[in-house]
Amino acid sequence: MAKKTVKDIDVKGKRVLVRVDFNVPLNNDGQITDDNRIRAALATIRYLLDLEARLILMSHLGRPKGEPDDKLRMDPVAKRLEDMLDRPVTKVDDCIGEIAGDAVAGMRDGDVVLLENLRFHPGEKKNDDNFARQLAELGEVYVNDAFGTAHRAHASTQGVTEYLPGVAGFLLEKEINMLSKVVDNPERPYVAIIGGAKVSDKIGVLDNLIGKVDSLIIGGGMANTFLKAKGYELGKSLLEEDKVDAAKELIGKAEQKGIELLLPVDLVVAPGAEPSAESKVVPADAVPEEWMALDIGPETAQVFGNHVKDCSTVVWNGPMGVFEMEPFAQGTIAVAQALAESSAITVVGGGDSASAVKKAGVADRITHVSTGGGASLEFLEGKTLPGVASLQDKEEG
Ligand code: 3PG
Repeated sequence: MAKKTVKDIDVKGKRVLVRVDFNVPLNNDGQITDDNRIRAALATIRYLLDLEARLILMSHLGRPKGEPDDKLRMDPVAKRLEDMLDRPVTKVDDCIGEIAGDAVAGMRDGDVVLLENLRFHPGEKKNDDNFARQLAELGEVYVNDAFGTAHRAHASTQGVTEYLPGVAGFLLEKEINMLSKVVDNPERPYVAIIGGAKVSDKIGVLDNLIGKVDSLIIGGGMANTFLKAKGYELGKSLLEEDKVDAAKELIGKAEQKGIELLLPVDLVVAPGAEPSAESKVVPADAVPEEWMALDIGPETAQVFGNHVKDCSTVVWNGPMGVFEMEPFAQGTIAVAQALAESSAITVVGGGDSASAVKKAGVADRITHVSTGGGASLEFLEGKTLPGVASLQDKEEG
């Protein structure tokens, strides 16, 4: 990577302000359901602690509206990190101001502080200069290890570097190195498998990827909009009527460029998205009026799997159905297995797809499981990530 990393700076005894992405999923009781992102930051954290730095960690959690939200406090994250590190982690109830300043002033070498959710302040997402300066004042050195948030130009990922020179942590470095292999020189044929609920979230991504891949597989709820664009009726399925034209355009663009576009040929349907609902498999053009598509069908899973076998680079983001419900998880699991069995370079991004490879027990057979969803997609689209661009360049030679 062309950016300086933690290895290029002196951190001993220094206050090191580290942006991590501890945006972990929580259940209704506020418990962490997947701590992978915390685990992924441990290499940097342990390295800095071994060098007796004073560690000030900061992250967002969820999408609070620029004000405190008790359900999104960082306390469960601090607790989990404490268990992993086997040393105290002091959770501070704000990320700027007197509370944060006092906590940092009292730190000794090797201490760990975790600041409160950055998005409790509107200045974080607005990349407000004053907020960024207040964050920067807490540290002497800035490290960005939050790959998952590197596509956001926020105060903690970009604004802060106006005041403190920044370097990359090990996770950020690893992600960029792995994903660069796909961006710079993908082994062909190169397929992208894009799923998830909504086309609107991924229109830009699809548009960009069409210029880069040899084939595109679309599954999950968003495939319904494409099927509708082909003239199929989808019953009660999730559908974005206002995106049907955009889907038509993408279909046309793929045809024009000679990109093979694969859509579901059969679907698992049910009267409602309930785990206990009666379900059946129907052809993609025969969804009954009162039923909805909740997963790709077995024939589709086979078609997608066979296609993956013939490719040398496979990128996957987004589930093929409502995979958190057992009866609608098979399509997503089948895709995870197809990636594991393939000899291609396989890259999985996005929280749901990462959980799916874990659930299928094949995470260790994937070339790279990214901690970033949006960030990995934007990088694969060839976009510059502000959180990376704002770090110091490595000196030449
Ligand atoms: C993610 O989960 O993709 C990152 O933590 C970024 O979160 P955001 O989409 O709310 O900015």
